[in-house]
Amino acid sequence: MRILLFQPDAKLRDRVGFWLENTVGAEVVHITNLPDAILETRDGEPRVDAVVMDPDREAIQAYRQFRKEIGKSMPLILCLEGLSGELSTTETGPKTRIINRREIISGLAEAFLDLQTSGALPSSEPPGAAAEGSSEFESAKQFVRIRSPLLISVIPLKGDVYLRLSPFKFVKMFREGDQFDDADLEKYWRKKGVEYFYLKRTEITEFLEKYKSEILKLLRHATDLTQVGQAEISVHELSHELARTIGVNPLVQSVIASQMQATVAALEKSPRLADVMSKIRALQGNYLHVHSVMAGHLACGLAHEMGIGNRMTFQKLTMAAFLHDLELRDPELARFDSIAEFDQQLLGAAAKKDFLDHPRKAAELASVFYEIPPDTDKIILQHHERPNQSGFPHRIGGARIFPLAAIFMVAHELARFHLENQGRKTTVGDFLKVAAIQFDSGLFRKALVAVKQCFGG
Ligand SMILES: [Fe+2]
Ligand SMILES: [Fe+2]
Repeated sequence: MRILLFQPDAKLRDRVGFWLENTVGAEVVHITNLPDAILETRDGEPRVDAVVMDPDREAIQAYRQFRKEIGKSMPLILCLEGLSGELSTTETGPKTRIINRREIISGLAEAFLDLQTSGALPSSEPPGAAAEGSSEFESAKQFVRIRSPLLISVIPLKGDVYLRLSPFKFVKMFREGDQFDDADLEKYWRKKGVEYFYLKRTEITEFLEKYKSEILKLLRHATDLTQVGQAEISVHELSHELARTIGVNPLVQSVIASQMQATVAALEKSPRLADVMSKIRALQGNYLHVHSVMAGHLACGLAHEMGIGNRMTFQKLTMAAFLHDLELRDPELARFDSIAEFDQQLLGAAAKKDFLDHPRKAAELASVFYEIPPDTDKIILQHHERPNQSGFPHRIGGARIFPLAAIFMVAHELARFHLENQGRKTTVGDFLKVAAIQFDSGLFRKALVAVKQCFGG
């Protein structure tokens, strides 16, 4: 990997450059000013794979100028004094990470790992370590990552638990049969900040079986929609990871199905849109996972207000919401709604294919799920269509859009609006103003009227 390091300060440049060479395993191009950074990124030979930018002064202006010239497909880590919120998500896009320059080394380590995990950067290795196709590379592919609290919730396990030291290095934490309890793992999670543990793919069955029974316990006891929703977010994150590694096999499907039973049971107990809205506010996690859960819950609340809420409808809407973006490889692409919005980001051909194909791939996944309610795949396939035929993949509009897909789209927009405006003073009235432009006919309009009646607005 070739990394361009734009850093005017010589001492810092040497220090950060040394770290990048030895930890990320990169060839580092040292640059001291913005025009050279733009020139080298655009025309450098061999090409630059990622940029680390710490211009010290006027960093935001430098960033904007750089992106204007180069586009947003280049992975970039920007160092800022403190973590100022001056850059909007549209300006940064999924390939930018912003780190605090006072904690530059730990920030860089986290940002590189994050860019690699999301697929924005190829996995790299320190000098002398594994290359693609080598035995070490192949053995790294045997591991599946599991978020630490999730794994802790099901131990003890008979299989081994691993820690990841570098992209290709895994170390066994406990040997089979070792006595350990959740305090041992908690120590790594809470004190050392280890976010994920790793299991071998071949040993994942035991974990999934136990996790499923944990969910079933939740089904028996939990009625609070926030608690059930937070569990659903964990299942979503796990399913997204497993879709990429072992695939959504029947056991993974049964974990999802158990969670969805718990979700529908909690929604049936409090289906009113206003209650659903107040319950989802506390949900936390990555956008892909949180919005998938929120959209399902809000769609059920909306269906209830429109007089068509029943168990079957709730099953369809929650399952469609859960699966609708599950096939996106890059979780950040879930933030975009239309092709025009996606194209503004200049993310390149691979990302575009990922984006354009995901409704069809997710609908196909739904169609092979066992015991899935009918029409769930239709809602998923149509979730990026729009009433004025500007959507994709089939540019269908108006009456050709399946009724539950229309309700899902409005709920999805409401979830997106809520997540994008957290911390701002926005109201449902603001949402209605924006939504009325694109959802201006038939059932869409009725759904907006239901939102309005529920919240005033
Ligand atoms: Fe989508
Ligand atoms: Fe989505």
